[in-house]
Amino acid sequence: MNKTFYLETFGCQMNVVDSERIVSLLDGIGYSQVEDPKQATLILMNTCSIRDKAVRKAYGHLGRFKPLKEKNPSLIIGLGGCIAQQEGGESLFDTFPYLDLVFGTHNVHRLPELVQKVEQDRVRCEETEFLDMETRLRLFPSRTGDETVSRFVTVMQGCDNFCSYCVVPYVRGREISRPSQEILAEVEDLAAQGVREVTLIGQNVNSYGTQQSGEISFPELLTRVDAVEGIKRIRFTTSHPKDISPELVACFGTLPKLCKHLHLPVQSGSSSILQAMNRGYSREQYLKLVTQLRATCPDIRLTTDIIVGFPGETEEDFAATMSLLEQVRYAEIYSFLFSPRQGTGAAKLVDETPATVKSERFDRMLKLQDEITRQIWQADVGQTYPVLVEGESKVGEGQMFGRTTWNRIVNFSGSEDLVGQLVDVQITKAHRNSQLGELVK
Ligand code: SAH
Ligand code: SF4
Ligand code: F3S
Repeated sequence: MNKTFYLETFGCQMNVVDSERIVSLLDGIGYSQVEDPKQATLILMNTCSIRDKAVRKAYGHLGRFKPLKEKNPSLIIGLGGCIAQQEGGESLFDTFPYLDLVFGTHNVHRLPELVQKVEQDRVRCEETEFLDMETRLRLFPSRTGDETVSRFVTVMQGCDNFCSYCVVPYVRGREISRPSQEILAEVEDLAAQGVREVTLIGQNVNSYGTQQSGEISFPELLTRVDAVEGIKRIRFTTSHPKDISPELVACFGTLPKLCKHLHLPVQSGSSSILQAMNRGYSREQYLKLVTQLRATCPDIRLTTDIIVGFPGETEEDFAATMSLLEQVRYAEIYSFLFSPRQGTGAAKLVDETPATVKSERFDRMLKLQDEITRQIWQADVGQTYPVLVEGESKVGEGQMFGRTTWNRIVNFSGSEDLVGQLVDVQITKAHRNSQLGELVK
């Protein structure tokens, strides 16, 4: 019988990269990927546990596979990623009797062996041990390019920041930086295969290199990536404000390939909430950083993450977040209602704010930001900007899409031979999440 797998990926860039690895590992043991779970002999979910909603969503999807298993008992169902790491096999096998395989965030490389064990012995398998640093250093997946113009490159894994609300340090383990020679070799390889944009990823890329003695700093790494021939654009995410050095700020003024966009999660505009979140900066320090970034690169655009309804958030604290949004004028925000995560510090805090008050604050914030976002992208109309063309657009035939330096998608009429090129596009219309434009000949 043909071996086929169906893979669902939730969560952040780390999981996207892990899933790419899963695809290539399964390919190595004779599995081909299918888009319909009904056609699969193996179903895998790569999950996220950042908020309760993400967990419920994953469990909801998992439940849909139960009838498939009932119809076909030889179907193998596996769950990996951050929920697997958080919950472990025992409890997951208990809750989901039709689950065969549980693999943690440090064990993706073991997947072929685990899948084969389930296949041969028809036993349930779990692997959720964290690995030691030395082993992890050896295991940073090295990837090669394919048809895509833009790719993620992992520069670090894990997180040591322990923001009081966050589960990531518990499900991804300690921070570790990938050797810079390996990163640069990967970027060179990707460039040679036609990749034109790289996004350096990690939970906190600004602290790159600080854990390993003799490693170069993040600004130095950016400088070296900037020198790689064939690469036209560089992005990185995610940044922790407390770890942005003056050298990193300077990169936005000196590195020609570095995009003028920075995702700089603030979480709250209130210094006392920031302190309760263990973020390591105050409102004032954050705003000073924004000023420095804009002095260095006047047309930089910022995006951010905000948590509404952190335990103890008063109306005054919330007003501070609103005023920060007005002051910074982010191009986009990603906002979340606080979700208590088991094992984190903030889950133990008294939380007296009623859910209705929280959701009312949330709506007020979205309304304010929607208007700011609209104004910022609307002001581009009539302007001409370089767009890196990524491929055919979903909006219709003969339509291509690419991104401006600010990471906004622009759709325009063009031909496929433009893919991978930087072309000038005049913006003609701004939608909520994308823009329309015309190719400037
Ligand atoms: N490492 C990144 C991203 C972490 S997760 C960073 O430090 O910015 C992405 C976002 O999810 C966070 O920035 C935060 O805004 C949100 N988040 C994390 N834990 C949360 C929780 N328990 N409740 C609500 N939002 C949360
Ligand atoms: Fe979570 Fe904070 Fe680490 Fe980001 S920096 S992953 S929010 S603990
Ligand atoms: Fe989610 Fe894990 Fe990423 S919890 S946000 S997939 S590190």
